[in-house]
Parts: sequence; C-alpha cells; structure tokens
Amino acid sequence: MPISALDYHETTKHSFGRFARSAGHLDWRTQPNPFRRYAGAPVVELPREAIAAARPYVGLYETAAGPSPLSPSTVGELLRCAFGLSAWKSIRGSRWALRVNPSSGNLHPTEAYLVWRGQIFHYAADAHALERRGAVAPPAWAGWAGDAVLVGLTSIHWREAWKYGERAYRYCQHDVGHAIGTLRFAAALLGWHAALLPRWSDADVAALLGIDRDVDAGAAERETPACLAVVTAGDLSALTTKAPATLLAALQPDEWRGHANTLSSGHVDWPVIDAVARAAAYPGREDDGPRPSLVASPRPAVLGASTSALNARDIILQRRSAVSFDPRATLPLEPFLSMLRRVRPAAPPWDAIGWTPAVHLVLFVHRVEGLAPGIYAFLRDPAAREELRAAMRAEFLWEQVDEGMPGLFLLLPTDVTWVANRLSCDQDIAGEGFFSLGMLARFEPLLAAHGDWMYRRLFWECGLVGQVLYLEAEAAGVRGTGVGCFYDDPVHDTLGLSGHAWQSLYHFCVGEPVEDTRLETSPGYEWER
Ligand SMILES: Cc1cc2nc3c(=O)[nH]c(=O)nc-3n(C[C@H](O)[C@H](O)[C@H](O)COP(=O)(O)O)c2cc1C
Repeated sequence: MPISALDYHETTKHSFGRFARSAGHLDWRTQPNPFRRYAGAPVVELPREAIAAARPYVGLYETAAGPSPLSPSTVGELLRCAFGLSAWKSIRGSRWALRVNPSSGNLHPTEAYLVWRGQIFHYAADAHALERRGAVAPPAWAGWAGDAVLVGLTSIHWREAWKYGERAYRYCQHDVGHAIGTLRFAAALLGWHAALLPRWSDADVAALLGIDRDVDAGAAERETPACLAVVTAGDLSALTTKAPATLLAALQPDEWRGHANTLSSGHVDWPVIDAVARAAAYPGREDDGPRPSLVASPRPAVLGASTSALNARDIILQRRSAVSFDPRATLPLEPFLSMLRRVRPAAPPWDAIGWTPAVHLVLFVHRVEGLAPGIYAFLRDPAAREELRAAMRAEFLWEQVDEGMPGLFLLLPTDVTWVANRLSCDQDIAGEGFFSLGMLARFEPLLAAHGDWMYRRLFWECGLVGQVLYLEAEAAGVRGTGVGCFYDDPVHDTLGLSGHAWQSLYHFCVGEPVEDTRLETSPGYEWER
C-alpha cells in the first residue's frame, strides 16, 4: 500500500510506551555481513600511502587550496579517509571493524562506488581495494567528467533493519549524511571540492553504478541509490549543471562483471521500508536548480592556537563514538562556540549539499563553562527565529547569549540532565556529557514544496551536522556520539511544538569519554600497524 514519508515518520516514532516496530531481539544467525563484495569482478588494489598527512585540521573548513593532483594514490587516499576502516575492536573472541564514516549500530548500510577514467568500481573497504564492475565509453567519459571523479553512495536497508526494524530507513539516511560529510572532508584533505549532483535521479544513479542489474544481484540484498557526488580540483558548477543522459548512453553493456554476495542467511521483511523508499525516490531535475549561497559567518571561523596545530588526517581517522561520559567533566566555552560556528553553513562541508539549511539545534546544556545549564536554541539560519519562537513554548526566553555568536539563544535556564537522558531513550550519554542536542528540521512545508524525496535530504543534513560535531569534538580533545534513539513526540512536547511544521530528526551528544578498557584496538589495515 502506498504511504507518504510523513506516514512513515509517524509510524516509526518511539514513544514512552512503545518503540517503533522491530524484531525485538537480535537474531545472530542472520547478522548481516558488513562487507559487500562482488565475486568475479577484477580487483584493483589501491595505493596505501598516507598522502595527505600534512594538512592542518582547520584547512578542512577552507575552500579548496593547494589541490593535490588526481592520481591512483590520491584517489586511494580519498577513499581511505572517507570510507575506509578506522580500527578493529575485539573482546573475548569477537572482532569487528569501525569505519571513518560512523553508522547507527555500526551496521554500515552505506556502500560507496567510484567512477573514474570511464571505469565503474565498487569500493571494498575491508581490503581497501576497488572491484571493477563496469565501464563507460572513454570519449564520453572524457567529455562529460574531464579530470574529475564521481562517487556514488547506496544503502542496503536490510543491514539496519536486521536490528532496528521499521525505524531503520531513518538510520540509513543519517548514515548517508555522515558519509557525505566524510567524503567532503576527505576531498578537503586533498584540496579538492565535492558536491552532490542534483540532476541525477535515483534511477540514473542506479544505472550508472549497476545496482539495478538483477542478473548481478541474484538473491543478494539489494542496494537503493542514495546520491552521486562529483569530486574535483576544478570548477564544480561545470559538472553540477550537466545532464546525465550522455554518460548513461555511453555505458558499455558487455563490460559488467561480478555478482553481489549475500549478506544474511535469512531475512525479515519490513514492507513499510520498501514503501517509504518508493515514496521518497528522487526523480532528478531538469536543471541544477538554485544553489543557495552559504550563510555569511559573522566572525571568521578561526580557532585557538591549540586547534590550529592539529593534523586533519589524524582527526579524521581517530574519530570514534563515545559509549560513556565522565559526568564531572566540563567543557570550556570557546570549543563549544567553535562547534556551533562549524555547523553554520558558512564554509565547507556545507558546499557539498545544494539546499537551503533546514535544520536547527535545540541544545540541552549541562556543563559548559560560562553557560547556565538549560535549554538553548542555535539557529543555523537566524532568519528562522520568529517562526521557531512562535512555534515553541511561550515562556521560553529567547535571550541572545553572545554578541559574537548570533543565533544562540537561552530558552530556559534549568538543570536538564534528567530530561536529556529521558528524551534520548534513557541513554546516560545524553545527560552525562557536556551537552546533548536535538536537530529540529523544517518538515512538512518542505515535503509539500519539494516532494517526499526531501525527507531523505533532511536526514542527510542532520548526518552532516553530526559529522562536523564528531570532528570538532575530536579536535577539542573530547568525543561525540550520534543518537538515533529518542522519543519523538516527548521531544516536541518538551519544546511546546505541535503539528508537523518542525520535526526532531536526530540527536547528538558531546562529553569527556570514558574508555571501555576491556576492548582491544588494532589499526584499520595491517599495513598501518
Ligand atoms: C545515525 C546514528 C545513530 C546513532 N545512535 C546511537 C545511539 O542512539 N546510541 C549510541 O550509544 N550510539 C549511537 N550511535 C553511535 C554508533 O553506535 C557508532 O557510530 C557505531 O558503533 C560505530 O562506532 P564509531 O562511531 O566509533 O565508528 C549512532 C551513530 C549514528 C551514525
């Protein structure tokens, strides 16, 4: 039965009395393999050098400067630093990989593809290698892309649904947003630009990547197209405006190689996920549309000396989620403000997505030096102030906090440790960190204006906010954690919101991590020992 994105969203809300539908237990016999491989596809090992080891962390937020030349080594570095393995963890005989791009439950529904020099590859993160899947006629490729690479992302919904059931589609979208972030940051590491290609429909992306080929998928779990991005040292707009047709017409039908592996020995169907995926499919567009200019930053996004000395590659590869926070630790004000500055869409990575910012933050501040504990709003576009103010509780103060940080408002000074913990599915990390937050997206009006495909992009924007916060937390010497589990309507009740004009789509928290010393950690790849 057809459903809308709004129906899906309502159906998959967690409430105090009922979680969204899932199997309710983990069936370890059908745990999905986190690594897709294409048996029979020629494997191309990628160079393993750490090319971009010198770029400073602050350089990630600057528009491309001093670009590296495009070569197998630099393209290998792009993939390593966007989607590669960041570590292996083990305890009592079980061992699992972590990746540069985080994922809800570490289930990694996102697959990455590379199209370069007319060759179509799947990125096998476990081996840091490319599997050559197909090809485009070289002259058509040269004419279309010149000296650029295309990176495609897809989602295997089943990987998340195995654990989370119907809510899994949301998490797959968050993960795509995080992966867009890791791609943009890895491109910045090499001095390159990266942006989504708005003209490519889902069907176009599926055709280019070969994921629509029944014959290669067989009985394996299918991938749903997410997006196609261009990565280049040159002019982005020359590529974002191009129609897909000539490239798709140049696909070489006899060049496809490889068969997808089956990830699980058994499956549970979640028809509502298939239904929302159909409803939210992206139809593409005839032109590349208006690209919103980045919202001007009131203060240059400079950081203290401590952060400017940091190395970008180290921060990208060391990023981890905290599992527990020290509830006594406090965060100085400056790193807190820096985190907020970075999520203002004033600089990279915000040039990677092509829509006006729709997501704002509601912060539950517990222990930030110089700030009263309480509920705060941070508006990523200050123009949203009156609308949000009218939508929220009338008793909220809306007191501007710092002249140098427009958009940050104190709403209610009070201890919110318990509230934050309770709203985030009773997870201690939400109350024991320095702060936690909810990401509030302008919702129904955008779905009505654009179509249900916008639903996915709102999650992608949230994921990108989360990725910036993850890196900023590492840079401040602390740690963040994405929080997909929260009680949806109680968040709204707390803020006084009703209806569907705004929706909380993702939570996040930052604190002083307490390590689990029982876990052993080894490098992502044995050659990096
Ligand atoms: C979209 C998303 C939702 C998440 N939700 C939660 C959560 O509710 N609680 C939690 O403890 N961790 C959560 N995490 C953290 C993941 O468990 C973590 O990213 C994953 O285990 C991989 O570990 P890493 O981030 O250290 O690479 C979430 C991460 C993402 C990306």
